[in-house]
Amino acid sequence: MGDLFWNKLIGALLASALAIFGIRELGHALIHPHEPAEPGYKIAIADEGDATEIAVEAVEEISLAQRLSEASASAGERVAKKCAACHSFDKDGANKIGPNLWNVLGNPSASNAGFGYSPAMQGFGGTWDYETLNAFLANPKAVVPGTAMSFAGLKKAKDGANILVYLRSLSDAPLALPALPISLSDASEAADGGNGIIETIVDAAEAVFDTAEDGAEALADVITDDEPAEEPATEDQPE
Ligand code: HEC
Repeated sequence: MGDLFWNKLIGALLASALAIFGIRELGHALIHPHEPAEPGYKIAIADEGDATEIAVEAVEEISLAQRLSEASASAGERVAKKCAACHSFDKDGANKIGPNLWNVLGNPSASNAGFGYSPAMQGFGGTWDYETLNAFLANPKAVVPGTAMSFAGLKKAKDGANILVYLRSLSDAPLALPALPISLSDASEAADGGNGIIETIVDAAEAVFDTAEDGAEALADVITDDEPAEEPATEDQPE
């Protein structure tokens, strides 16, 4: 075992130590980010056992926000023809079989004083935010069991998003659309815009991969090859 062996071994150990240190740094960067004053998207974790459910809900919320950002109020107005037998949509419109739907989005359920709701709807006690109304319109009886709204539900998620942005437009003060979480392509722009945490994570990740790769290569050299490493091919070429 010549000096070279020990050089390589020490080099490999150093590289591995650096990789481990890098992973720790990355962990810190991920776990203690500098929180923005207003997070674009909040998840309240009540219980670790609910993590899967929370993840599923988060994905659903994100995809609803995404669909809403691509939805069209005029397409929603066409979908609303399915509701027109029972609902009017204009401001101060009359209640029919169902209540008038002007300004329904963002308001508590069963809040139209002139309409006689079913006990089920009176007892529901929800607020018609985007998620709740989206779920109700997809399957009314699943969200408000016993509701008097005899409507099977909108089958297409796209119809749901379109009608939500149409209902949103039926208000003097339309409810803000849910914030879209940062997409990966926006993330690098945000990094340029001074959001240092993203830059830090990307840098740390790159550093970890680089050092880990170097460490693995050096270890592989030590294990498989006692001879001095070959010079890179390009440097073998005569000038
Ligand atoms: C067959 C009639 C009928 C159809 C079709 C219908 N609804 Fe309804 N809707 C009702 C009735 C009745 C209620 C009251 C339910 C209750 O009291 O349980 C209601 C309640 C609602 C509510 C709750 C309103 C509040 O003030 O809390 C919303 C929102 C709503 N409908 C939206 C729609 C939309 C959007 C469509 C079309 C995609 C639709 N409905 C189709 C009959 C209908």
